[in-house]
Amino acid sequence: MLLVPLASIREGMVLAQPVFHPSSSDLVLLNTGYVLDQEMITRLADFRLSHVWVEFPGLEEIGREANERINRGHMALYHALQGSVDKLERRVAVKVNLHQYKKAVRHMLTEIVADPDHEVITHQLATCCPLLSGHLANCCYLSLLIGAHMSGYLRAERSTLPAHVAENTGQLGLGALLHDIGKLPMPDELRSRCILDPEGEWREYRLHVIAGYDEVREHLPVVAANVVLNHHQRFDGSGFPKRESRDKARPPAPLKGRNIHIFSRIVSVVDAFDHFLCPRGGMVPTIIAIHQLRSEQVRGWFDPVVVEALLRLVPPFMVGSTVTLSDGTEAVVVGNHPEAPCRPLVKLLSGPICDRETRVKGRLLDLRMCRNLCVAGVDGYDVRPYLFSGELEPSAQDEDAVACMSTGGVA
Ligand SMILES: [Fe+2]
Ligand SMILES: [Fe+2]
Repeated sequence: MLLVPLASIREGMVLAQPVFHPSSSDLVLLNTGYVLDQEMITRLADFRLSHVWVEFPGLEEIGREANERINRGHMALYHALQGSVDKLERRVAVKVNLHQYKKAVRHMLTEIVADPDHEVITHQLATCCPLLSGHLANCCYLSLLIGAHMSGYLRAERSTLPAHVAENTGQLGLGALLHDIGKLPMPDELRSRCILDPEGEWREYRLHVIAGYDEVREHLPVVAANVVLNHHQRFDGSGFPKRESRDKARPPAPLKGRNIHIFSRIVSVVDAFDHFLCPRGGMVPTIIAIHQLRSEQVRGWFDPVVVEALLRLVPPFMVGSTVTLSDGTEAVVVGNHPEAPCRPLVKLLSGPICDRETRVKGRLLDLRMCRNLCVAGVDGYDVRPYLFSGELEPSAQDEDAVACMSTGGVA
């Protein structure tokens, strides 16, 4: 199957994955097998959906890594929050809804533990992130996913606890789910901002961590409440809130490095990633979000071990997505290499996917083996400036391999 941008969808395409309703508790808007017509294509645009999975001949092997149950769990988190965060005139009642939040986090955790190696659908994250409830759901999901892949690190960072307690990420999920709850009283224009925007430096903005902590501290376990308080503490000691002391002459040193709880360090990374993926409400290609997470702008802010874990879990080019190669050829990503994430395995297409006659042509092409050929475009963005340095050119020893793989019409 193929992940198609809404702009390229045409009548007659058949859904290969359900489409979730972005704002309804009914969850599923359209089921697998639905044949799209023009009226529904227009409605999908109204729902702000950016991409859908469709069936495509020659790409039947794609999609096995996608986990529909996890995608549903992610959307359930989103909907669990929507009623209290986006719809009730900003009047959140954490205490009233806590049971529902805990249930949704537990469910998500169970699904992730059952399939920690599923494909992360960044397009689904981007559909959610313009709303605060979606951002919170995304951060909860990604935090739990990272936690599931870092059990050794969790044990090391929480070494005073028994191993099974140290690895338990229930409080991480809960803290991530409510980390920005202090933004609720903010005006809309500030509420959708993040620390990466100029407004993020404003005092009013910074107060959301204290306001959130005050909201939850009597209702959440202490570790989860501290995630709400410290998710903007940076690894290098910058960030906020400032620690206070009765002795004004001797202010305490800022929290930094491993003195920041590992759960807060995880939420700090996924919070920034979600904002990078969806700046000002519109999705950018994943590789741009990843590039920004590694950029000078945020140097020293994050625990590098957590950043590495996220980069291992979220490839720059998602399997099933279409890309434009540097020679202008359209291609579909069918596999990724952890050691060379910017040089995926692709299958070439005979034309753009919006063209009814377009078919898969040639066999697999491994971009690790292709001199002077790289992914150049995604969804209309030129992504060449964001490719990881060191991955632009295959080594000389690959020349033979390049020659033998050039039968697909690309050398
Ligand atoms: Fe925040
Ligand atoms: Fe946030």
